[in-house]
Amino acid sequence: MVRGLKSLVADYKTRPAGKYTSDSWAPFAKALANADGVVADASATASEVAAAKTALTTAAGKLVAADEGTFQTITNDVFWNDTSGNPIYSQGGGVFKFGDTYYWYGVHYTGAELYRANPTRKYDGDVTFVSIPVYSSKDLVNWKFENRVATRSTSLASGATLGQAGWVGRLGVSYNENTGKYVLVVQAYLPSMGGDGVLFLRGDSPTDTFDYAYFQTQVVNSPTTGTGDQTVFTDDDGKDYLIFSNREGRSRAFVSKLRESDSLRVEPAVQIGYNSAGREGNAMFKLDGKYYHAASDLHGWNTSVTHVIESTGSNVQGSYTGEYTLAGTEMDYSHVTQTGFFVTVKGTKQNTVIYAGDRWADFAWNGIGYNQWMPVTKTGARPQFHSVSQWQFNVTTGEWRVGPANNYALNPNFQADRIIVSQVQGWTNFRESGPTSLVTNVDGGANGSRFALRIGATQSYAGGVRQQITVPAGVYRLSAFARTTGSLSAAQVTITDADGASRTLDIPVSSGWTRRELTEIPVSAGTATITIRAASGNGYLFVDDLELVRTAGGTPPPGQRYEAETAPAVCQGTIDANWAGFSGSGFCNGTNAAGAYAQFTVNPSAAGTASLGIRYANGAGSARAANLIVNGSTVATVSFEPTGAWTTWATKTMTVPLNTGGNTIRVDPTTTTGLPNIDHLDLGPTAG
Ligand code: GCU
Ligand code: CA
Repeated sequence: MVRGLKSLVADYKTRPAGKYTSDSWAPFAKALANADGVVADASATASEVAAAKTALTTAAGKLVAADEGTFQTITNDVFWNDTSGNPIYSQGGGVFKFGDTYYWYGVHYTGAELYRANPTRKYDGDVTFVSIPVYSSKDLVNWKFENRVATRSTSLASGATLGQAGWVGRLGVSYNENTGKYVLVVQAYLPSMGGDGVLFLRGDSPTDTFDYAYFQTQVVNSPTTGTGDQTVFTDDDGKDYLIFSNREGRSRAFVSKLRESDSLRVEPAVQIGYNSAGREGNAMFKLDGKYYHAASDLHGWNTSVTHVIESTGSNVQGSYTGEYTLAGTEMDYSHVTQTGFFVTVKGTKQNTVIYAGDRWADFAWNGIGYNQWMPVTKTGARPQFHSVSQWQFNVTTGEWRVGPANNYALNPNFQADRIIVSQVQGWTNFRESGPTSLVTNVDGGANGSRFALRIGATQSYAGGVRQQITVPAGVYRLSAFARTTGSLSAAQVTITDADGASRTLDIPVSSGWTRRELTEIPVSAGTATITIRAASGNGYLFVDDLELVRTAGGTPPPGQRYEAETAPAVCQGTIDANWAGFSGSGFCNGTNAAGAYAQFTVNPSAAGTASLGIRYANGAGSARAANLIVNGSTVATVSFEPTGAWTTWATKTMTVPLNTGGNTIRVDPTTTTGLPNIDHLDLGPTAG
């Protein structure tokens, strides 16, 4: 009898709590604990065992599976459409949840239509207001167009219409519990009604056509009329606040209550932050009991890192910490956006905040797509921004994951800076030889875009830029648009993984923009480095629209590694271990003489061509040349460029023909300087 209960308990103990609703899980967990106690009780009677068994099976039968939800894909860097396939034009707005539905309000400008039709110039002269559309969604991904809550013909006070506004901008919606009305709070410049101020429009439902209610030019405690930038923040208790900065200077961060009786006034402002340089795109989110006020730099339509101040207590109008940069927004200026607004999703498994950034690409000409939404999670003490170009989100559980088409390269279009610079954001310059300044971005990128990366000089040089990113293990595709001028002795994009294995996309000479790609790149998990490098006597490499996409998951089959210090490898020199960073137990330090070779014997899985990588360090000042000799025949010449130090290792990749069985691969130096130090040879899979 007890044995039967014992096996039942053991079986039920494998059920994961997270798969069931907490309401149904509680009685089940209780019955399970009770049955467990009966099993352990040697004096339990047969009827006690039977009762425990029945109670347990009954509770198990009543378990209700939790809604697992579904993952929906959010793709950035494209123009978004609604569920009918029509363009979404919604900028500077906000998303608000009423009932079980999310509603998204924003502004439709004429410039947005023009840029979408022809994104090869900017339309900052076309900030004319068209309407305020509202979309609805249950999953925050698929948006159904509902209505235009306000248009140019919306009537205001004393015969004025919204079409007469000089500016209609940042807005949000408050549901007022006392009036049962929805109040749209809009930043506006209305010359006939007193100038800059906050406009209140009101509707009976979230998707109603809203009517004029009030226009407030001055918020008490703000040094200026109107607002710098503003958003509406709704707290957990349903109270609504206007988050804004002062219009002139924008140095003060304010939180004001919206009047509780009807939401039709902005109450006196409480200052929560100050930065003399000015801040824009003011927006608030709440995560795990803390308030976070986020803002961008103050400089027109530019993008920037996201600046955060966080509440030190549980009062939204209380004290806040000093400013820090939201981690993850540094390398590509918040995925080339300005802070727009936040949506906090409390999932059954985790809380995720959506950073809804606006690229303002219509006015800034800095890429494709207006709405760039990224997940923000809390890892450790502070929130973390994840700059993903594609991700999948589960609104039910709050979980998210990187999308299959995500581009792991950051600032891949070299447009985050939006001005000509000599240090491109997210990329680190390096120089092997030649003038100090080899890198810039230039006007005129690929595919009608504004900027591209340029490496080069009118004299002899070698160098370029590097970027370090964190990637999961997998097989990747690397592609870029490129063009060249002059003659280049090297033009390449290299990806080096956390293990030091690298693959190089060589860029041929081409006067026009051409897409180049390298596929089937095995990359191990961890920090990968993308290196864009050129060398020439007088010539330039231009690169744009770089993409690093994972085409297959999982850890790629391990290639075969052959250490230079392990027989049957031959080293005409000494096996040394004095320079750190080598794999295995040492490296081959070839005698500095022509013909002092290093040789490997490799056994490919099949005959055919195989790619191989030879890892080396060259701390000397100039390249060392060698013949690549496979099974006695010279198949190529290799130049081992300086790596900068004997402790800096690089991998030279090449493709060689191989037979089945043992093959000798020899690097045979052709000059008296001999070989660089040789660490190992990695053999890739053989292709037919
Ligand atoms: C230095 C260095 C060696 C290297 C040698 C060379 O002596 O310590 O590791 O092999 O230079 O120039 O080849
Ligand atoms: Ca040597």
